[in-house]
Amino acid sequence: MSARDAALPEGVERRAFEGDTRRLATRGPPVYGEPTDGDYRLWDAGRSKLGATLEKGLPTGLEGGQRALYLGAASGTTVSHVADFAGPTYAVEFAPRPARDLVEVAEARGNLFPLLKDARQPETYAHVVEPVDVVIQDVATRGQARVATANRRFLREGGRLLAAVKARSEDVTAEPERVFESFLDALNGYEVIATERLEPFHDDHLAVVARRA
Ligand SMILES: C[S@@+](CC[C@H](N)C(=O)[O-])C[C@H]1O[C@@H](n2cnc3c(N)ncnc32)[C@H](O)[C@@H]1O
Repeated sequence: MSARDAALPEGVERRAFEGDTRRLATRGPPVYGEPTDGDYRLWDAGRSKLGATLEKGLPTGLEGGQRALYLGAASGTTVSHVADFAGPTYAVEFAPRPARDLVEVAEARGNLFPLLKDARQPETYAHVVEPVDVVIQDVATRGQARVATANRRFLREGGRLLAAVKARSEDVTAEPERVFESFLDALNGYEVIATERLEPFHDDHLAVVARRA
């Protein structure tokens, strides 16, 4: 097993799909028309920033069974995979339309809890979310560092933030590298462990792994 694969959480495996023997997969009911193989379903890194982060071998600290808070769940593509290997998984999404699909995805998963909430206002879901081991963030919005900082309150000490920072959501005209520097400067209360750009899976995105300080 490669060092990269050793970092995969329990419940995420390499399986053969579409002629490629080494694709990421989790076990669970299919969600978005992804290829399946028995109980396994393909986790496509091209459709998921967290999938790409795992493909890149970043030290996510993910293990099976952890409690997770997912910010920017959309219609559930990535968070459904998270719920396949994690413990209780809280999924925050503020747009009603994707949130409707998310509710359907959650119906098939007893450990996935959708919250139609604004991730910039964590006080509106603080009464529901228990302390978590990991905060996963993929909110395509301005102020991504503020969102990560505001949701730090849910992380247990030493817990990790796994953020995918989208440069164009902050400033379409700025150099992505400058936007990423500003994100890291504005991130409060975290110690950054690793960063890596997500090309070729996702253009102009930076994966950030940070520990609650
Ligand atoms: C790139 S999409 C997420 C894709 C998803 N993470 C996946 O991989 O399946 C970004 C999502 O963040 C949501 N979003 C943006 N700002 C938000 C906020 N302040 N609170 C909650 N959700 C937000 C958007 O509505 C959108 O659905």
